[in-house]
Amino acid sequence: MNWPQNVTIKEVGPRDGLQNEKAFIPTEDKIAWINQLSETGLNHIEITSFVNPKWIPALSDAVAVATGITRAKGVTYSALVPNQQGLERAFAANIDEVAVFMSSSETHNLKNINKSIDQTFPILKAIVQDSITAGKQTRGYVSTVFGCPYEGKVDIEQVVRVSESLFEMGIDELSLGDTIGVANPKQVVQVLEVLLKRFPPEKLAMHFHDTRGTALANILVSLDMGITTFDSSIGGLGGCPYAPGASGNVATDDLIYMLHEMEIQTGINQEKLLNASRFIQEKIGKPLPSRSLQVACSTVG
Ligand code: HMG
Ligand code: MG
Repeated sequence: MNWPQNVTIKEVGPRDGLQNEKAFIPTEDKIAWINQLSETGLNHIEITSFVNPKWIPALSDAVAVATGITRAKGVTYSALVPNQQGLERAFAANIDEVAVFMSSSETHNLKNINKSIDQTFPILKAIVQDSITAGKQTRGYVSTVFGCPYEGKVDIEQVVRVSESLFEMGIDELSLGDTIGVANPKQVVQVLEVLLKRFPPEKLAMHFHDTRGTALANILVSLDMGITTFDSSIGGLGGCPYAPGASGNVATDDLIYMLHEMEIQTGINQEKLLNASRFIQEKIGKPLPSRSLQVACSTVG
């Protein structure tokens, strides 16, 4: 197989991880945790979400978190933005990167952001344009690429249509979401064969949830197809509250274990990452899905 020498990991735990937690993690704990993450060697952290706080109460303190953290040099601090109101909050919090998001399936888009796909395009287009004008980096997410909790399999042409529209808006990078963790390696190859005919691999990131334990296998085949950017969540925290059955992202701890053992560099310090993982596990008060974390907890106590 075809292995790269370096991989970029984009940590989404503070956003994708916490958005699905019932317990509200106090703002000062979020800040302390993100500050720890900033010292691990990660160079990209999605720290929160400027969505409607009624929809995602766990992240209602987005501005306080984004303005309370210590910004480390060389780290990009990113956040989700769904509309103009969110963008104003994101600008007020001086976020480095604005991440817009929508689904490739109509029903999930509606349940998640209360709009049809066609109604969503102009909203995101304005956000991306305003962000570029303000000198921000921009990222797009397309969800339900490998399956929708309401519609089942998603036609690849729908994924292509949404992806093309997001790139036309001017996003720097597109993250392909397996929102409910249904993808398998054969399907990942099939989807990437289509998308890589249209978009270069360096513009794509993969965002696998590990609901059924297939995320690392999906990452391996993505690596072989030339993808070198992956989203993951420390401890394996995560899930989309508007996608029934969705559980955590692939655990950053397990992903870096695998990559480092394969002599693929990430720039992340494993021990510091495990400490940050332990920290949030304690705050959440239950064991997190990461296998590496559980091994570390059982051997160190
Ligand atoms: P809406 O309720 O249709 O919005 O929400 P609205 O425009 O009708 O406004 C209703 C009220 O919300 C108003 O207040 C607004 O001011 C307020 P009221 O007049 O009732 O007092 N409001 C806001 N307040 C603060 N910040 C805002 C904001 N917007 C409206 N930004 C909206 C539409 C899109 C905002 C809503 O549906 C929403 O917040 N959805 C987000 C849901 C979400 O966060 N889902 C999870 C993230 S996506 C994901 O996890 C997938 C991903 O990980 C990739 C993958 O795994 O596939 C990215
Ligand atoms: Mg997600």
